[in-house]
Amino acid sequence: MSCCCSTDESRTMASDIPKVESLINEAEKAFTEKFKSKPDVVVFAPGRVNLIGEHTDYNDGFVLPMALPLVTVVVGSKNNTDTCHVLTTNQQCDAPKETDFLIPSKQSLQPGSPKWANYVKGVVQNFKGAVPGFNAVISSSVPLGGGVSSSAALEVGVYTFLEALTGEKTNLQDKALACQKAEHTFSNMPCGIMDQFISVMAKEGSALLIDCRSMEATIVPINDPKIVILITNSNVRHELTGSEYPTRRKQCEEAAKLLGKKSLRDAKLSDIEVLQQKKVDEDIVRRARHVIGEINRTEQAAEALKSKDFTLFGKLMLESHESLRSDYEVSCAELDQLVKAATEVKGVLGSRMTGGGFGGCTVTLVYKDAVNEVINNTKKKYKGKATFYVVTPSAGATVVRGK
Ligand code: GLA
Repeated sequence: MSCCCSTDESRTMASDIPKVESLINEAEKAFTEKFKSKPDVVVFAPGRVNLIGEHTDYNDGFVLPMALPLVTVVVGSKNNTDTCHVLTTNQQCDAPKETDFLIPSKQSLQPGSPKWANYVKGVVQNFKGAVPGFNAVISSSVPLGGGVSSSAALEVGVYTFLEALTGEKTNLQDKALACQKAEHTFSNMPCGIMDQFISVMAKEGSALLIDCRSMEATIVPINDPKIVILITNSNVRHELTGSEYPTRRKQCEEAAKLLGKKSLRDAKLSDIEVLQQKKVDEDIVRRARHVIGEINRTEQAAEALKSKDFTLFGKLMLESHESLRSDYEVSCAELDQLVKAATEVKGVLGSRMTGGGFGGCTVTLVYKDAVNEVINNTKKKYKGKATFYVVTPSAGATVVRGK
């Protein structure tokens, strides 16, 4: 089981990440208090950080994420009724913290309030098997709205819970796709496949290079003891994400159509000139330039990681951030400040925003002996209040108890 971030010799000033065992205890305790029995099933699914390959998944491109030791735990049992009762111990979730709904064979589920329950209902509705009535409790250490996929961790956690409850197993790709569909239809977010895919398939000690067209994944180990991955949460989330994400998707589709390609995965950097000659809207040209460049950078970065060329990897991270800032326009002042503060420190190889953008987290690749200095410098320079996590690549969804 994956657990905490910092071992003794690598003690950093970053926040301690709660151990999975302590989250399980929290969820089991809440379950026993509420339902007066011990849960039969215990599972967890991780959040993720994307090292590079941003806004490329819905363009059939490459991404290079890894799973985090920040996880969502789901515990529960069948209740021999037609109703599902679900409770969350997560203080960041909107109220009420408890909800119930009928199983889909009795009534087709609809999104509503509270918002956190929509991810649960979306997965229950899209589960490939008959869902019995159940009681469940959810606990999580994944920051909400932090750009590290709290929603995918919840979706994949609930799907894994239903598998362990019923014994019905779905193949891993279909499982990720069902969770993505839950997000599209119950939270109205037309996300790509990266977040659910990595939460399902991640391997401890490695990032995955995912080809979002063929859905093939290549394991890329990250195991150099001199290097650490630092996540810095800006603790801001600008409301723009909801409206800007679908707009970016449409602009990419438009660019591909104008080029006569199925998606921007099939375009080359030389196609940017073709768009310019067609006098296409400048925004569309810049969106396409980011995506085409980012797909190339991601393939290069995976090669760099395989050959332990961390200098090249860091350079590609910086180029990625700059392209997301200026061409794709999904960064914000807070994320730019965090990247700048990190790169001022000697020993930092690269730093960039990660996830959808408009707030959330940055990811920084840094020599271990420089990480505390990065944290100090960021505390000094960042206008907001940041949270820091030193993370190791963790496992995908795991059944601790159940079928
Ligand atoms: C969000 C989406 C992902 C991906 C990223 C940007 O996290 O859920 O599918 O598109 O944004 O790379």
